[in-house]
Amino acid sequence: MSSESVRPSAYSGTQKLLHWVVALLVVVLVPVGFYMRKRGALTNFDAMTNELYTAHKTFGIIVLALMVVRIIVRVRVGSPAPEATLNRFQVIVSEAVHGLIYLALLAVPLLGWLGVSAYGARGLLGGFQLPALLGKDTLLGEAILKYHGYAAIFLVLLIGAHVGAALFHRVVLKDGVLRRMLP
Ligand code: HEM
Repeated sequence: MSSESVRPSAYSGTQKLLHWVVALLVVVLVPVGFYMRKRGALTNFDAMTNELYTAHKTFGIIVLALMVVRIIVRVRVGSPAPEATLNRFQVIVSEAVHGLIYLALLAVPLLGWLGVSAYGARGLLGGFQLPALLGKDTLLGEAILKYHGYAAIFLVLLIGAHVGAALFHRVVLKDGVLRRMLP
């Protein structure tokens, strides 16, 4: 995002922290998202299911906020040049996957927020209410939440490719690609 001449030599501590906190939250949010939906259907939304929904929405919004911070930090400090061991094709593919992961990490929580706005279930942990992005329309809310689920699956596929590539670099190629993002 910044020009070649001013690229930093490494990711900053803030960038690494944001990367791993977002990764940890997504690893928890995805299975909880699938589980709570199934549980809602099985238990007709018992108290535990409602608590899981509230927690999922809260931590999902935290991901959205952290992604906004992450993008601001990246625009301001930039990112290190690609590892020298990568060929042109690998650089293009990895940058495309990273860009799509950023987009999905904005789109998934935004679709969740739009969905619960239309559905009319904006409560978060601590008694907070999300501002409504849309007027109440239950059917529209259900439809948007369906796309929220599809987008989350797309995000999981991207993360699978991303993690697979990082491990391939670490275990097979034994280069420094993964180390760039480690503390
Ligand atoms: C990066 C953040 C998020 C991830 C990875 C994520 C992931 C998921 C996944 C995998 C599901 C299950 C989908 C399915 O079973 O079809 C789900 C469901 C759901 N998510 Fe999220 N989510 C995130 C953020 C949010 C946010 C911010 C909200 C709302 C403020 C939200 C609200 C919901 C709701 C209400 C459902 C249940 C949908 C239903 O019952 O049909 N999510 N989420």
